[in-house]
Parts: sequence; C-alpha cells; structure tokens
Amino acid sequence: MADHYWTGGDLPNFVTHLECGLTGERYEAHRLHGLSRAGKPLLVRYDLDGVRRALSREALTARPQTLWRYRELLPVRRPENVVSLGEVVTPLIPLPRIAARLSPKGQKPGEILVKDEGRLPTGSFKARGLALAVSMAKELGVTVMAMPTNGNAGSAMAAYCARAGLKSYVFCPDDTPEVNVREIAMQGAKVFLVDGLIDDCGKIVAEGEKAVGWFNCSTLREPYRIEGKKTMGLELAEQLGWELPDAIFYPTGGGTGIIGMWKAFAELEALGWIGKKRPRMIVVQAAGCAPMVKAWADGAEHAPRWENAHTFAAGIRVPQAVGDFLILRAVRESGGFAVAVEEAAIAAAWQQVAGEEGLLLSPEGAATYAAYTQALADGRVGAGERVVLFNCATGLKYPMPQAGTRLKLGERIDWAADIVN
Ligand SMILES: Cc1ncc(COP(=O)(O)O)c(C=O)c1O
Repeated sequence: MADHYWTGGDLPNFVTHLECGLTGERYEAHRLHGLSRAGKPLLVRYDLDGVRRALSREALTARPQTLWRYRELLPVRRPENVVSLGEVVTPLIPLPRIAARLSPKGQKPGEILVKDEGRLPTGSFKARGLALAVSMAKELGVTVMAMPTNGNAGSAMAAYCARAGLKSYVFCPDDTPEVNVREIAMQGAKVFLVDGLIDDCGKIVAEGEKAVGWFNCSTLREPYRIEGKKTMGLELAEQLGWELPDAIFYPTGGGTGIIGMWKAFAELEALGWIGKKRPRMIVVQAAGCAPMVKAWADGAEHAPRWENAHTFAAGIRVPQAVGDFLILRAVRESGGFAVAVEEAAIAAAWQQVAGEEGLLLSPEGAATYAAYTQALADGRVGAGERVVLFNCATGLKYPMPQAGTRLKLGERIDWAADIVN
C-alpha cells in the first residue's frame, strides 16, 4: 500500500488560490511561491463548499490514522508526490495526577491534555509541515532545498528530502543541541553551524537563494508548511469529538503551529463541522526570548527583533517572526494571551511532569506546563477548564541533567544508605 493509501488516481484537490496574509492579494494555485509582494506569508485557500460536498465527518472515521486522512484540505495533487514517513495521529495524554493536585479541595479537577507531537517521524511536529512542504516541492519540480533551523525543522526537512530524493542544506546556530546537528547529517543533509541565531542563519539561506538557486524553505516563507501544521488543529478537533478545548497553550517560535491551527478552526467552521466556539490561544515564550509577549502586552501588530535572545528551550529561541501579525491576530481574536516563563520554571516543569506523570516532555513542551500553572495561579485559566498543552518534540532529543549513582562491583552495598534512602 502506498504511504498515503490513496488509489483513486489524482488526489481530490480543492485549492483555489493563495493569498497574502496581510493584504489579501491573490496568487495562482499550484505554483512555487515564497513571500507575497508585501513581504508577508501566503495562505492557501480552498473551495470549502466543494470539500463539504466531497467529504463528511463520518466518512473520515474509516480512514487510516495519519495526517493524509485530511487530504481534501491539503494541497498535494498527485499521489506519487506524497512524501511520507508514517505521520501518525498523535495522542492526547491526560495528566490526571497533576490535575487533581492543582485543583482546589472539594472541586472536580480540570482536564489537562498533552498533545504529544514527539511521536511523529523525526520526533517532532516539524514532520507535519515538512511532509507537506517537501511533497509540494517535489510536485513543483524543486531539486534542492535549504533552511535555517533551531534543530527540529532541519531534521524533518533533511529526512523528507532524503525520502523524496532531494538535496538539502541546513544552517543552525552553533549551540543547537548536538543530537539535532547529527541527526540532520545522518538524514542526508549538509549541515552548517553558524555563530549567530536562527535569523542570522535565515540571511545566509536567502543569500544562497540568489547565489546558488536553492529553494528557501524558511518558516512561513514557504506557504505549504502551514498546511501541514494545520493538521494539528484538524486532528485535535476530531479527537475531541468536534468540540474544541477551552484553551491551547502553544510554545511559540515562528508560530507556524498557532497560525496553522487558527486556520484549521476557520476551515472547520466553514465546513459546518464545528461551531463558533474557539479555544483561547495562549502563546508561550521563554523570558529570555519573548518578542510576541511584548508585542501582545504593547497592543502592537508587529513584534520587533528581540535582542540577546537566550533560552535552553532551543525551539522557541526565535528573535523575530515574519508571521508575527498572524500569531497576534489569533491570540487577540480568540481572547487568549501571551505569557513568558523563566528558565528555572521551564526546568522545574520538565522534571515535574516526567517524574509525576511519566511523560518526558521537550523543554518547549515543559514551558507550556509552566505557563499553565502560572495562569492557574493568577486566575487567567480556571481550575475546571479543559486545556491542551502542546509538546512539540520528544524529550529524548535534549541534553538532560546528569543522573545515576555509581556502584563498584566487589564493594559492599549498604542497602539502606546507598539504595533506598
Ligand atoms: C520543540 C519545538 N517547540 C516549539 C517550536 C516553535 O514552533 P513554531 O515555529 O510553530 O512556533 C519549535 C520550533 O523549532 C520546536 O522545535
């Protein structure tokens, strides 16, 4: 069976055009695109009446549990261009012990659900976006791709390019977790370590576009990654019986996920599959790199570059986002907010969820838990609410605190002091 399980000739395709996220200017469907003429991200638009006639919520239930189950809402046309490594539907894992501990005495605990994106190929949610970006690149005749990354996106691009037989070049800050650098290389990309941040890497990729003609797959400069990330919202709605949660906590860097989910909810409402209710979209950033939090607090539409960005949650160390206005729009329209968490709070949350519930989050995922407890304490989220925390990568990819007590064979073990104390 083909990865995408489709056997009926061309995939059903309902893309009508793309449009600039800021000005609404229209662009032709099924062409290679970068940013709009206004320098802003392009959004893919569909004939949603056509989708409604072609597909029902009920028909979905019989399909395999992969993101390609939403193919009518995706842009790929020809089945042979689908590049897949097995994009499973990720589980929603409740944190019942923590929810009970955090709820006021005598009250029914709220519901904390972790959408665990670490189960995807390459161990992160970047697989969703890059599965679509690389499939579309293949469909549109691209042979060489390049991107700046904090690690996970580069790994996913390398893997999907290898799968598709495309060449790839990846540029990351020189303090990117070592495992990311090595997995990128193992998966066939040429990887470069740059003594700067992700936006400095982005400048090199943009220069290379002119110098050597590769396709620039930077976050939101390429329009199809959002379509892949959109499936997080489609999946979440379906998993919760088409009833969206009260709030979504999302670790925000470039913001593709938050923009993608917000787009998914609008498309689902237009299809009549969900009602008007939306979750409060909550942007979570690290205190050492919080441009969106500042812009939200300032009531601004755009977020200036954050200088001296630092956090050990590498995925959210993004000083400036080209889709800033789209992220802020989702937060404001949803009645959500943006919040920054300190490094110590991220580290403590990381340890706590792993130790108390057995779920090893990524530091970025841990940041959402830290933000949730903060919001619970200051009343911005109620104890009885159903919230979804996004864990966007497996915790196994990150350097963890040292552990382990050494034992020497042949020496007497003091069971009470050495082992069970
Ligand atoms: C684990 C993790 N979480 C969150 C993010 C931020 O994602 P987005 O660009 O969708 O805001 C990244 C991006 O690199 C990441 O790797």
